[in-house]
Amino acid sequence: MKILGIESSCDETAAAVTDDGKRVLSNVVSSQIDEHKLYGGVVPEIASRRHLENIDRVVNDALSQARVTIDEIDAVAVTYAPGLIGALLVGISYAKGLCLASGKPLIPVHHIAGHIAANYITHDDLKPPYLCLVISGGHSHIVEVKDYTKYRVIGRTRDDAAGECFDKAARTIGFDYPGGRHIDAAAKLGNPDAYSFPHPSVTGSKYDFSFSGLKTAVINLVHNAHQKGDPINPNDVAASFQKTVCEILVSKTMLAAKDLGASTLAIAGGVSANSGVRAAFEKECSKRGIRLFLPDLKYCGDNAAMIACQGYYDFLAGKRATLDLNGVATLSLDKISE
Ligand code: KG4
Ligand code: ZN
Repeated sequence: MKILGIESSCDETAAAVTDDGKRVLSNVVSSQIDEHKLYGGVVPEIASRRHLENIDRVVNDALSQARVTIDEIDAVAVTYAPGLIGALLVGISYAKGLCLASGKPLIPVHHIAGHIAANYITHDDLKPPYLCLVISGGHSHIVEVKDYTKYRVIGRTRDDAAGECFDKAARTIGFDYPGGRHIDAAAKLGNPDAYSFPHPSVTGSKYDFSFSGLKTAVINLVHNAHQKGDPINPNDVAASFQKTVCEILVSKTMLAAKDLGASTLAIAGGVSANSGVRAAFEKECSKRGIRLFLPDLKYCGDNAAMIACQGYYDFLAGKRATLDLNGVATLSLDKISE
């Protein structure tokens, strides 16, 4: 079954064709990062305009690279939540037009569910139930994946998302937006024990994260050093910061895995590309006998193959949208499982 996936929730205009959710026939991603980095972050108005300019070309490229026409597609899957509303609406409107003209079914896909599904593309042997840590620019969740379309969020960030924290720390150190990958590269050259950063204490839910204190600690360290004229080694700050993020992610996730008796863990989202995060979980999971699944690097960040893949499972579960489908800026995964 061939699904055309469309993704435009943030700053990547993406389209892909998958077969039976697993086989990726094409995966086209047009990034706007070079423009947004001039402003140090995504400018929603610019994102919407660029999606509008790019979407027709990106979808047509995805179809032609997969060597299929729209007539040979069985359904169109589109990200409808969560994300920047103006950006989402471009993909949704395009998908609706395509479905109206072609008579194909429209499948609404949750962006975070898409990130989780990126692991099905990479790993044939991953099947629910399992625990998933989703770490992206906008979200940090510990999710119980009960089935392909059923989730329970058991932990979430109280403030900044992990990727947001990477990007803000990177900006303070002096790296371009989005700074996560620059911290990753710099950390390889630095001493992870050079600086000591705080681990947050979160009351209430024991699986919840908090990253704003860590972000502030990096800002204070760098600003104080500048004021005093003290030298600071960016690689050491990056390595110490990344080590702290890894410790926070590993400790909360392992606590959840232990409490739930989970023997399978997947990681998803842009930050799952981080080499320190991957190594930390590989080490901890092998120590505890937990099977770890990590997405292929090309499916960690935003892409439409993951949307088409999740669209396949949503289609099998009977999910369909009509032409009044709207974008939703904030929507918990729990809500789509009700
Ligand atoms: O999943 P994603 O592409 O978009 C959202 O849905 O938010 O995640 C983007 C985030 C950004 O914050 C980016 O800096 C971060 O993922 N990221 C990384 C790395 N590659 C991307 N963070 C740390 N290390 C990386 N190698
Ligand atoms: Zn994303």
